[in-house]
Amino acid sequence: MVQAAIDHAVSRFATARRVTVLTGAGVSAASGVPTFRGDAGLWRQFRPEELATAAAFARDPALVWEWYDWRRTLIAACPPNRAHHVLADWSTRRPGVTLITQNVDGLHERAGTARLTCLHGSIWTLRCWRACGTPDWTNYDVPLSPCPPRCPSCGGLARPGVVWFGETLDPADLTLATEACVCDVFMVVGTSAVVHPAAGLADIARAHGAYLIEINPETTPVSDAVDVSIRGAAEIVLEAFDRWPLERPTVA
Ligand code: OAD
Repeated sequence: MVQAAIDHAVSRFATARRVTVLTGAGVSAASGVPTFRGDAGLWRQFRPEELATAAAFARDPALVWEWYDWRRTLIAACPPNRAHHVLADWSTRRPGVTLITQNVDGLHERAGTARLTCLHGSIWTLRCWRACGTPDWTNYDVPLSPCPPRCPSCGGLARPGVVWFGETLDPADLTLATEACVCDVFMVVGTSAVVHPAAGLADIARAHGAYLIEINPETTPVSDAVDVSIRGAAEIVLEAFDRWPLERPTVA
């Protein structure tokens, strides 16, 4: 990637009226939250795809909750990093900036992000597994006690308020995310771009004429399809975007 292309991307971003940023686990990596794929995503011998399903929960809710309790405890000790803060700052200073995240860790929220859609829910939300009708509730206890937690209304099992593999997204969230694809600049930051429908949002944005920017230390399935793919860590590249033209994101 030539420096001129990166400079062009930053100037497009700086002058755009509507900017949408899609984030993934890579944005929280510098905070100490493990990403999902690769060795970092393993817990004991399990991959997330083996535990984050309704079938896994039905089979062994204690095991699934043990994993979520471990992740909640780990995340509770992780502060938002520069990437979260820069994005939160843009969202509060620029009314045209919208964020869509696949992350369930709550770090965008803790950084004070405005106009945020959490496509995959939140690890801090609990839901009645029996769907007894009680609204989802927030629980920040780490460790959880009891674990597995119980529904306060019916006493049945509670489940994490996240979207599991094989489940559909909340239609209202998907509508918000799809509407946000009508923008001038669409940034894909810190996601392996393999989980749909989130991974397909860049295509929708491009169909609406958006200029596409990717920020990721690795190549992904969307790297060839974007206008500029910047190889770098989100917390460094986003900060450089923020400081432009005093500082220029550099070529990796
Ligand atoms: P992944 O773990 O699949 O991908 C993380 C991405 O972040 C990779 O492409 C890394 O190269 C990149 N990365 C690592 N460190 C980075 C850094 N400092 N700055 C920028 N990028 C960095 O996570 P997601 O793409 O978010 O779904 O995964 C998508 C969904 O799959 C998750 O929301 C979750 C998961 O299983 C559900 O739970 C439904």
